Amino acid sequence: MDYKIAEKMIKKIIKKNSDVLFNVVNFLYENFVHYNWVGIYIVKGNTLILGPWKGTQATEHTKIPIGKGICGSAALSGKTEIIGDVTIDKRYLSCFISTKSEIVVPIKKGKKILGEIDIDSNKKNAFSEKDKVFLENLADMLFEHIH
Ligand code: SME
Repeated sequence: MDYKIAEKMIKKIIKKNSDVLFNVVNFLYENFVHYNWVGIYIVKGNTLILGPWKGTQATEHTKIPIGKGICGSAALSGKTEIIGDVTIDKRYLSCFISTKSEIVVPIKKGKKILGEIDIDSNKKNAFSEKDKVFLENLADMLFEHIH
């Protein structure tokens, strides 16, 4: 096989793989009406870096120190956070005026926290045990797509 063609094809394969996270974010945003902003943060050292996201607005919180906010808390503990009313959680870092509740689900490889799924809803108490179980299962499918 021609090496140049092989290189081009391999680049396409690698790109497809990195599109997995965006495609999943997009799917969640489009198919669940109570998911009004969906993003994936990736752990890099002591910081969460925003990866693919979908919503009507961009967030100013593209870098969050581990331990800060709801996102940073979940990244520290490795446990899912469900905030039914963001106005009464002191840790909450506000992104959008429309957000009323939030769920953050860590993406782990064994005990190592690689990233997290962060979803905001415009409805109070939007996230149930069903969202938690569903998103935790999804997180288990995603860890191998985080590099
Ligand atoms: N509310 C988050 C910050 C991220 S935005 O929701 C996109 C937090 O408290 O960590």
